Amino acid sequence: MSREAILILDFGGQYNQLIARRVRECSVYCEVKPYTMSLAEIRAFDPMGIIFTGGPNSVYDEKAPHVDPAVFDLGVPVLGICYGCQLMAQALGGSVTAAQDDSAREYGKTETFYNTACPLFQGLPEAGISWMSHGDYMEKVPAGFSLTAHSAACPNVAIADEKRGFYGVQFHPEVNHTDHGVDMIRNFLYKVCGAKGTWTMGDYKKTAIAQIREKVGDGKVLLALSGGVDSSVCAALLAEAVGEQLTCVFVDHGLMRKDEGDEVEAAFGKWAMHFVRVNAEDRFLIKLAGVTEPEHKRKIIGEEFIRVFEEEAKKIGAVDFLAQGTIYPDVIESGTGDAAVIKSHHNVGGLPDYVDFKEIIEPLRLLFKDEVRQLGRELGLPEYLVSRQPFPGPGLAIRIIGDITKEKADTLREADAIFRAEIASAGEDRNINQYFAVLTNTRSVGVMGDGRTYDYTLALRAVTTSDFMTADWARIPYDVLDRVSTRIVNEVQGINRIVYDITSKPPATVEWE
Ligand code: XMP
Repeated sequence: MSREAILILDFGGQYNQLIARRVRECSVYCEVKPYTMSLAEIRAFDPMGIIFTGGPNSVYDEKAPHVDPAVFDLGVPVLGICYGCQLMAQALGGSVTAAQDDSAREYGKTETFYNTACPLFQGLPEAGISWMSHGDYMEKVPAGFSLTAHSAACPNVAIADEKRGFYGVQFHPEVNHTDHGVDMIRNFLYKVCGAKGTWTMGDYKKTAIAQIREKVGDGKVLLALSGGVDSSVCAALLAEAVGEQLTCVFVDHGLMRKDEGDEVEAAFGKWAMHFVRVNAEDRFLIKLAGVTEPEHKRKIIGEEFIRVFEEEAKKIGAVDFLAQGTIYPDVIESGTGDAAVIKSHHNVGGLPDYVDFKEIIEPLRLLFKDEVRQLGRELGLPEYLVSRQPFPGPGLAIRIIGDITKEKADTLREADAIFRAEIASAGEDRNINQYFAVLTNTRSVGVMGDGRTYDYTLALRAVTTSDFMTADWARIPYDVLDRVSTRIVNEVQGINRIVYDITSKPPATVEWE
């Protein structure tokens, strides 16, 4: 792969991962790094262009994050977005102040006018909506820069020094609200930085396989396969690269969705690797008996998972490499502090202490979720695995409110399968990012035939979201909800009432526990 890489320096803005995703959508490789990256590190990274992200600070604040001004002497083009634009303006001799009156402060959708002779805006309409979010104002534009976009309130929405390849925009081209935002980013990459667009999943697959083969040699690799998208694609990539040297341990904790365990097993039949499926339902259910507290459930499952995996690993003996399906969003180090932990997510982290291995390999470490899915398709994994919606590590345990029994898990599995099937057959799965059923611990009176029932209430949950940090409840058509409800109460024993969860996140979370 030729070195065609963009460096994104993170100043703590909320859309930073989105910038990276947009760059990669343009088939250009990029990485997000904290703004504290040293000049030497930047040189070593050898970017063909640098993007400064937005951020919550004001550049004139004492504690505002800065960048070594020598970065402007590297001869590398720079695109500054929002805070990044102001930072560049200030560093190069301009000045930035708090907007004096409300009219110069801009938030939200703003009609913006572009000079389409500027490389950033070439080929785009002369006017359009841009997404603004700034309270500061570039009072003085640095020498060498010209103004290339304006709005009614602000004469310098975008600045450019074409000679040096420096561009700044006050708005956020990375968000969908900005018309042609991705085209502006593409212009920066292709017209300004000279990118060719070599980042494709087909190329990535070949390179990754070669790199894995070189690293692993004739060593043994062990992977904990959960059946989720990341670990499945990781398994397929490794299987393709090292075949029989790979052992995947798939721990079925009995809290999977209907048929999921068999589907996962079937998907890997075509590779000559070792596939170990451990049916550990009884163990997990015994440990979980009577436990009602969500975090306690998570902890028990996380620990039991490690125990089971450890036992299997012992049978296999020492391995050279422990593989993990870590993906890029887990790796990106933010330019600012960490967010509060609302739920302790159980993934297969923490395994290294328990297993005898020499080194960890994480072949998906630099990929975003949608890229992981693309790679899965390249590797010939079935679509039902590749486009699988997120499923929490603790599985149905956190979708059964209160204590967990096999009967409840079976009931929920059946109801959940009906809900998912109806959503898919109505074509609603294209609009909804995650949907599932929750078995509440509320029972209520109903009437079926001539008899009274006293059964469980099932809740349906469906959300639309781009990042799962915030989510809206999905507007499922009533007739679809009606079919789901009718089928479930008729076909699944033990449920006599269905409710639909109409809370967004925040204040609710996606899962109920
Ligand atoms: P919440 O419920 O926090 O969920 O709004 C956000 C996303 O994360 C998934 N989720 C989990 N994933 N282990 C996981 O691997 C967990 O313990 C866990 N809890 C929630 C959830 O399904 C949603 O996609």
